[in-house]
Amino acid sequence: MIRGYDERDAAATLEVFERAILETARSEYSEEQVRAWAGGPRELAAWNVERLATRTVVDEIDGAVAGFSDLGVGGYVDRLFVHPSFARRGVAGRLLDAVVAIGVADGLGELTTHASLVARPVFERAGFEVVHRETVARGAITLDRFLMRRMLGGA
Ligand SMILES: CC(C)(COP(=O)(O)OP(=O)(O)OC[C@H]1O[C@@H](n2cnc3c(N)ncnc32)[C@H](O)[C@@H]1OP(=O)(O)O)[C@@H](O)C(=O)NCCC(=O)NCCS
Repeated sequence: MIRGYDERDAAATLEVFERAILETARSEYSEEQVRAWAGGPRELAAWNVERLATRTVVDEIDGAVAGFSDLGVGGYVDRLFVHPSFARRGVAGRLLDAVVAIGVADGLGELTTHASLVARPVFERAGFEVVHRETVARGAITLDRFLMRRMLGGA
């Protein structure tokens, strides 16, 4: 079930975020890279404020938060994370369908994101195209990712 984020989802979404990076993303990135990406321990209250500010949507399966995404200012999709226990079951695809629907309802002209090497095929299936590949630094560590865009045909 796709639904809007509630502040009671803060701890569950933070766990999804950390485990998706540290476990699932290890298929494409080194141990040093995923640790740099995940960053240090996060403060739950600040995490909750971010989730509320970026219109987060969650996919709930049997009472558990299986994954979440969001839609920030200007149509930027900042987060797309699925718990390793629910991987490859279409959770991310459903979340992106919901995010696209919000963008269409808002009359946005396009959605953009920075997609990881793991997420690129998922965004492509949701109609996004690669603009370019880029390398970003997280401290002394670098990670490759893709700037991607999906036209919506709105204003
Ligand atoms: C990318 C991610 C959100 C996909 O979630 P999902 O619900 O498993 O995705 P879907 O079921 O909709 O689609 C499955 C596709 O995701 C990708 N994927 C999922 N798990 C993967 C893994 N362990 N290794 C590589 N690719 C994987 C594959 O393209 C897969 O397609 P396939 O099964 O045909 O190979 C999830 O893997 C994740 O959280 N990854 C780590 C964090 C991340 O990279 N987030 C994106 C930041 S931009």
